[in-house]
Amino acid sequence: MTSVTRRLLLKLSSVGAAVFGFSKTQSASACGKSSAVNAFSSKWSRTSDRIFLGGEYWANPMEDWRVENGAAECKTTGGFRNIQLLTHQIENVEGSFELSVDVSHVETRKSDGGFGFQIGIKSDINEHRSNAFAKNGVKAGIVDGEFVLGQRRKAVDGLKNIKRVQLQLSGMPVGNKYAMTLVAKDEKGEEIDSITHQFPTDYMLGNVALVNNFDPALKKGQGSRYRFADWKASGDAFVVRDENKFGPILWSMYTLSDNRNDEGFVMTMNALAGPLGKKDNQLVELQIEKDGKWKSLGKSKLDTDAWTAKFRIANWDEKKATKYRLVYDEKHTDGTQTQSTWGGMIKPNPTGRPLRLGALTCQNDYAFPYEPVANNITKLDPDMLYFSGDQLYENHGGYGLIRDPAGPAILNYLRKFYQFGWSFRHALKNAPTVCLADDHDVFQGNIWGEGGAKMDRTGGTSSKGGYREPARMVNVVHRTCAGHHPDYFDPAPSKQDISVYFGDMVYGDVSFAILGDRQFKSGPERVSFWSGRADHIKDDSIDVTKLDKEGLELLGERQENFLKHWVKDWRGHSMKVLLSQTVFAGVATHHGSYDGYLRGDLDSGAWPQTPRNNAIKILREGMPLHINGDQHLTTMVQYGVEKQRDSCWSFCTPAIAVGYPRWWRPDEIGMKHENRPKHGLPNTGEFIDSFGNKVYVYAVGNPIVPTKKNRYERAHQKGSGFGFVTIDTEKKTYYIESYRFLVDPSDGKAGNQFPGWPLTIHQKENKGDNVIE
Ligand SMILES: [Fe+2]
Repeated sequence: MTSVTRRLLLKLSSVGAAVFGFSKTQSASACGKSSAVNAFSSKWSRTSDRIFLGGEYWANPMEDWRVENGAAECKTTGGFRNIQLLTHQIENVEGSFELSVDVSHVETRKSDGGFGFQIGIKSDINEHRSNAFAKNGVKAGIVDGEFVLGQRRKAVDGLKNIKRVQLQLSGMPVGNKYAMTLVAKDEKGEEIDSITHQFPTDYMLGNVALVNNFDPALKKGQGSRYRFADWKASGDAFVVRDENKFGPILWSMYTLSDNRNDEGFVMTMNALAGPLGKKDNQLVELQIEKDGKWKSLGKSKLDTDAWTAKFRIANWDEKKATKYRLVYDEKHTDGTQTQSTWGGMIKPNPTGRPLRLGALTCQNDYAFPYEPVANNITKLDPDMLYFSGDQLYENHGGYGLIRDPAGPAILNYLRKFYQFGWSFRHALKNAPTVCLADDHDVFQGNIWGEGGAKMDRTGGTSSKGGYREPARMVNVVHRTCAGHHPDYFDPAPSKQDISVYFGDMVYGDVSFAILGDRQFKSGPERVSFWSGRADHIKDDSIDVTKLDKEGLELLGERQENFLKHWVKDWRGHSMKVLLSQTVFAGVATHHGSYDGYLRGDLDSGAWPQTPRNNAIKILREGMPLHINGDQHLTTMVQYGVEKQRDSCWSFCTPAIAVGYPRWWRPDEIGMKHENRPKHGLPNTGEFIDSFGNKVYVYAVGNPIVPTKKNRYERAHQKGSGFGFVTIDTEKKTYYIESYRFLVDPSDGKAGNQFPGWPLTIHQKENKGDNVIE
């Protein structure tokens, strides 16, 4: 052991020797060749004060960290705040590694939770993004005057109440184990003490991070705060992937739409950046490739709430594919500059051939980063993408929910939303994308927007009308999700100045109507008289059909007016699609758990019935297919108003990752049906839903109760997946596919899709001219 320690110490003498006034020359000369391998060095010493720590990191949670005066400072005394290094993972345990960091104490409240490194942080799939949220790994640091290295602790006099220290951690294989040595040095660079211990080699695999307060149980107000400077990493144990960097430009989303006026096709793009500082460069530049050279299309200023920079380019050449990139010049405090880019392809307008649309909804982060779906979607290379809401849930990424005030609530939202872009950015960069905000995106279990009203803040948020969150935060949600959509139809804000985003996009000879189908919807407390949740009816004795009262709204007058215009407007397209959050029928009999029978869910578009029927009557004139999500239960249904099957079809896509499960099991509870489709699948046919609405259920993808622990296998069992719709404007058909989570769509296996899919709907069937039997 002694010789091992000495060897390690010898190596360590080169690591981070430049801090505390040691000259860099001395450090470099002491540096053996191996320690320069895969070298990483933080840039905080020359970064402006800001929230975003840099593209090399994921901070847990983002809102609790700041770059301040040249160091990354933890702003809370809560437990297990950490900074994950994204570019370096320990994968080669036959190699060695070194880490060093300069730490200063800021404050300690009730007890010291310590600081240092955590090594071998890994999820069940050991992938760098999911690893960033794991809580395991080997601790290597100082807690309350003691070295901590894995399970070992060693009290050292010189470490008690230490104000500033340099920590150096070195690891190397020793026989079939892996040895790590932690050294603490004082401000003069003198060693205070060290500790060595050996570990099973697989303990090393995964992410490395800096930690402020090791104990996750420490609440805000209980632990300590530290500042971290000059973080260095190197060694051949690391595999380095520069492409893992996430930011300063995190990702981009764009749309392309035929304005059918002298502006021609309009390309609208949002660059999404991490929250930068006041002294940072606030401009993002958009460039396109022309004749082999990058040509600037101008610069756009970042919105300092949403951290989006918007570009709107009229008279876009829609006939050809155009390579683009977003350029951000990060200006450092020492006058130097780092350029970073993010880019992809603006696809040509898909005309004269079918348009292929990837349709997705609801991502619950137990299955983050949803690689099977994200990779399939990227591989299928659709002409267009559609995310119908719930890009996040309130629990995403852990570390709690901040509802007020608006500033911190926005940061809390942004870092949860960033998990969406982190998962899908390689698909998003290459396809026009419609992205709707739904209830969880604005931190509500359900949303009944009541035209932007402010929610009465007593009790929960699931069954009250209005918006719980400050309007400024809601507007950031709309800007980040839908800010890159084509011009809105009627952009006047709703109550509280909350923005609206309904309008259309004309692309590939198809017009897509985009709605916020709960933004104007009435709340359930207008009709509820039962005990418990106002939105859920469990009691069979309640006549749900009577809950259709005068004055209740579904889409609201403004969106209905838009639809009335839209169904008559056939300029520049020959087929229509309605994109909104949820299905206009009650097609779930069980909620939450396998036996969780629910008679009626007012959150579905089945209620209120009269405006539901009115909306469908308006729509069927335009014969759109309705594509929606929200339910976490894929269904294929045809709406009826006066009689069964007289109106549009609806495709509710599977959730990307189902959290809260739902089932449609009418056979089991004895619900009557007629005219079961020819395929004879259970739970299909013409039904009267509990609200009294006519609905023909053609296919449903019921989940099973999950048994698997692996995140992806679990998501698969829970009925997760994605939708794919091919719109053929020659044949006037929609070819609809509903894929499961863990499949390869290219292998053609029958079980890849939920039972009843794929199917073809003819345009005219959306006004009840039926072909399907
Ligand atoms: Fe959802």
